[in-house]
Amino acid sequence: MPGMVRSDLSKLPAYVPGKALPDALRLASNETAAAPLPAVQEAVAKAAAGLNRYPDMGVSALRGELAEWLSRTPGAPELTADNIAVGNGSSALCLQAIQATCQDGDEVVFPWRSFEAYPILTQIAGARPVAVPLSSDYRIDLDAMLAAVTERTKLIFVCNPNNPTGTVVPQAQLAEFLAQVPEDVQVVLDEAYIEYDRSGLAGDASAEGAGVPASVNGLALMTQFPNVAVCRTFSKAYGLAGVRLGYLAGSEEFV
Ligand SMILES: Cc1ncc(COP(=O)(O)O)c(C=O)c1O
Repeated sequence: MPGMVRSDLSKLPAYVPGKALPDALRLASNETAAAPLPAVQEAVAKAAAGLNRYPDMGVSALRGELAEWLSRTPGAPELTADNIAVGNGSSALCLQAIQATCQDGDEVVFPWRSFEAYPILTQIAGARPVAVPLSSDYRIDLDAMLAAVTERTKLIFVCNPNNPTGTVVPQAQLAEFLAQVPEDVQVVLDEAYIEYDRSGLAGDASAEGAGVPASVNGLALMTQFPNVAVCRTFSKAYGLAGVRLGYLAGSEEFV
């Protein structure tokens, strides 16, 4: 029936997923080649036996474990379960981040090209996408992103490392950028691919156990900038895209 569905939804660009061919990996979706680790498969099979029960709606055990684990990252704030949101993949968390910060016509600033879903999710939420072109060497142009911030900007995504260009904004540059972002603008550091940046591993045994030996450390920036949240996923490095599990660490208010 005409008029029942929001007319602006028909203007959404279609998300183009990687082609699904039998026996072929979807590289465009950055799927992992290896099957999940045996222990993970066992845990999932064990959980399947209890599917007649509703789960813990607050996901308190997982959020607690994540908080404890992430707090071990050098420089990270002391996180509790109240600082952690989990979602149906980090895509769902990106959408919720927009819904939580934007009302009709508010602006979401993100680099472009970057994660294909940013403009789509922004428009689904009724906000305005502000796509800031990458520099000529395919890096995120932080100066241009700052220049794109207006009074209507409520949220900024920084995809680090950036999908699809694989470039990394170094820690110092990121801190310099964040120092200039207005305090009432939420920043989400999308670290879906952070585990692939191993350049910080050399000689830093303290990073062990916190899981991410990367050269950038968004969690440490949260200590300095309360408007910063870090969003990650089990879909990529952990090879669990089918589990649909992403997590976000941020201020209690935002979470
Ligand atoms: C940069 C980035 N963020 C987030 C996601 C979302 O992944 P998922 O919803 O599987 O956690 C992806 C997936 O391709 C991505 O490339």
